[in-house]
Amino acid sequence: MSRPRSGLGADWWRHGVLYQIYPRSFQDSNGDGIGDLPGITARLDHLNGKADSLGIDGIWLSPFYPSPMADFGYDVADYCDVDPRFGTLTDFDELLGSAHERGIRVIVDLVPNHTSDQHPWFLEARASRDNPKRDWYVWADPRADGSPPNGWRSAFPRVGRAWTLDQRTGQYYLHSFTREQPDLNWWNPGVRMAFEEILRFWLDRGVDGFRIDVAHRTVKPRSLRGHRPIENIPGVLDRMPPADEPELHALLRSWRQLLDEYDERMVVGEVFLFDPVKFVSFYGAGEDELHLAFNFAFLRAPWAAEAFRNVVATFERLLPQGAWPDYTLSNHDNPRAISRYALADDPERARRRARLAALMLLTLRGTPFLYYGEEIGMTDGPIPPERVVDVAGRDPERTPMQWDASRGAGFTTGDPWLPISREARTVNVEAQRSDPDSMLGLYRRLIAYRRASPALFGGGYRPIAGLPSDCFGYVREAETGAVAALLNFGDRPVRVRRDRLEGALGFRGGFVLSTDPGRGGPSSAGSFELEPDEGLLIENGGQPEAEDPLR
Ligand code: NOJ
Ligand code: CA
Repeated sequence: MSRPRSGLGADWWRHGVLYQIYPRSFQDSNGDGIGDLPGITARLDHLNGKADSLGIDGIWLSPFYPSPMADFGYDVADYCDVDPRFGTLTDFDELLGSAHERGIRVIVDLVPNHTSDQHPWFLEARASRDNPKRDWYVWADPRADGSPPNGWRSAFPRVGRAWTLDQRTGQYYLHSFTREQPDLNWWNPGVRMAFEEILRFWLDRGVDGFRIDVAHRTVKPRSLRGHRPIENIPGVLDRMPPADEPELHALLRSWRQLLDEYDERMVVGEVFLFDPVKFVSFYGAGEDELHLAFNFAFLRAPWAAEAFRNVVATFERLLPQGAWPDYTLSNHDNPRAISRYALADDPERARRRARLAALMLLTLRGTPFLYYGEEIGMTDGPIPPERVVDVAGRDPERTPMQWDASRGAGFTTGDPWLPISREARTVNVEAQRSDPDSMLGLYRRLIAYRRASPALFGGGYRPIAGLPSDCFGYVREAETGAVAALLNFGDRPVRVRRDRLEGALGFRGGFVLSTDPGRGGPSSAGSFELEPDEGLLIENGGQPEAEDPLR
């Protein structure tokens, strides 16, 4: 079993910076246009282990298991193997070993809500009503008029109803996503045992944990009733199949106990709920359910200081004792942050905002999750209609990683499964690698600073009161030092009086870095001046006064 070499210890998932890899899109090693596991292994230097690496501490791999790819791997046909398009189990072991040598932890994606309709369990289940596997899935009789048992809808609007009639056996089966993804019946003890074996299969191989898909809905109400549509995403009614909450939490507790039998493992759940009280309940009493629940609040936050300040205040207030926050700006299901922040008439603005957001993400109290390509400022790629492959419009945020300016962007020598963005010619790793002012340079500096700063590593969080309304500011403090971040979300310069700020901070501020590459110092004595969409990092003490560019 491979175990990681890393100084972060058991709490690596609190102190580390984690990075999501969508395997299809990271690096192709055999020219078939699809990213694969050997490709990821070949690119680990980008992530850690070399002087010019990004410096991240862990990767989350989206599914690489055998799959018909109706949902690009989130339809699993075998939980304990690797799809030949992605490689072999031996390739996985090599990836895990190489990652561990560099101090990179590896978490894999567990998809317990549903399987592929080609999974042997479902093939058996649909063979006849009395098949022993029948009850492993959620079946129900049609209503008297032949219509589906209830009004539940798939999470994907294009799919429509969450029920499909199996003509041969005359019953409907439930699918919260595509009809090729039948939902498992978590009331069946056989399903529970099968998943415990799957967890152990990967833990015994040495993986450092799991990302749990649809962690907030996996167990359905036994009655198949009782769901009133809720406004989960503001303005959009969620008619998706609901959860039996007590049973779901019991399931998560049992998985936590299983993980706790191993050393230094963690589980982060996809909890796609926007009610913060419900959301924090997935941490259990603090240390008995999920280690982390994916916090998607930033993905929906409008570009306003108040919005981000409120998100952080909410979770700082609600998280139970011992629980740890996390934040993320982008993932494979949502438009990339830099594209969300784009203003039609001013494309440069999005880049400035993305830089400010990076500073925020990497200095808050909470584990940052980066999404591949975010570190170079990759935007959503344009997808011509004939190249659309995803059922839910998520192709743009999944375009291939941009390594260099060559035809295949260094991603592939063949035809890429999704078009490579035209901007790859200028926005790529190669072009940014030795430029400290680039997005990659900024991410690298922020990660290195975070790692070396006790205040950012594990210190407390205190918002700074009394700042101009467009400004979000906070202090991170540990016994050995303090760091403050000042973030101007407005489109006008903001001036913060130095004496007032230092009164609030309780220390004399030394300049660490600005998200504006050209920034040399304050434009007026006695004040910190922030340009529109500029972020500043200030530390206790800092550089000697004479060299302080903010004086
Ligand atoms: C959430 C995953 O992130 C998404 O990509 C997938 O389509 C659904 N769950 C279904 O597995
Ligand atoms: Ca390949």
